[in-house]
Amino acid sequence: MLRKPASVAIYPGSFDPITNGHLDLIERGSRLFGRLVVSVLRNEGKKPLFPIEERIEMVREAVRSYPNVEVDSFGGLLVEHAAAHSASVIIRGIRAISDYEYELQMALMNRRLKPDIETIFLMSNEAYSFISSRMVKEVFSLGGSISGLAPPAVEERLRRRLSKTNRRGA
Ligand code: PNS
Repeated sequence: MLRKPASVAIYPGSFDPITNGHLDLIERGSRLFGRLVVSVLRNEGKKPLFPIEERIEMVREAVRSYPNVEVDSFGGLLVEHAAAHSASVIIRGIRAISDYEYELQMALMNRRLKPDIETIFLMSNEAYSFISSRMVKEVFSLGGSISGLAPPAVEERLRRRLSKTNRRGA
């Protein structure tokens, strides 16, 4: 059966914080779809470094130059959130083969929950394939440079956030 091409896609994640690897995928996704919704997970159970409001703000600042990209947040099932946006595609990034198993499980579970929503995997530029939010936070907290790994505004927020947590721990 001939179907019209998907024009709304969701790019979900924790974005704790957004990195240049995420941004690379957002740029690719924005070229492929009419509308791209970057959705930040609200689950505090994952104990994020940044509260949800700040993660959303960082994503908003980083995607400002893309007219067809919007930012939202979600709790609960991703597929329900995607359906609420009339999105028929979920975008996920695959950096290395180690990502594959978890991503496959998630994609198959999401397909079982809502067979009409397709997960599409995009490969990040190889220059970003080693970047993760976890490593950005670790390198920064140990005094290493994260220049080129995350937007400059994220670096500034990490500085503020870590000095806050260090003060609290002192
Ligand atoms: O950036 P992350 O932490 O790898 O993103 C994971 C995310 C947000 C895509 C995933 O945890 C998610 O979709 N959570 C929502 C809960 C859900 O829908 N679970 C069922 C599918 S496994």
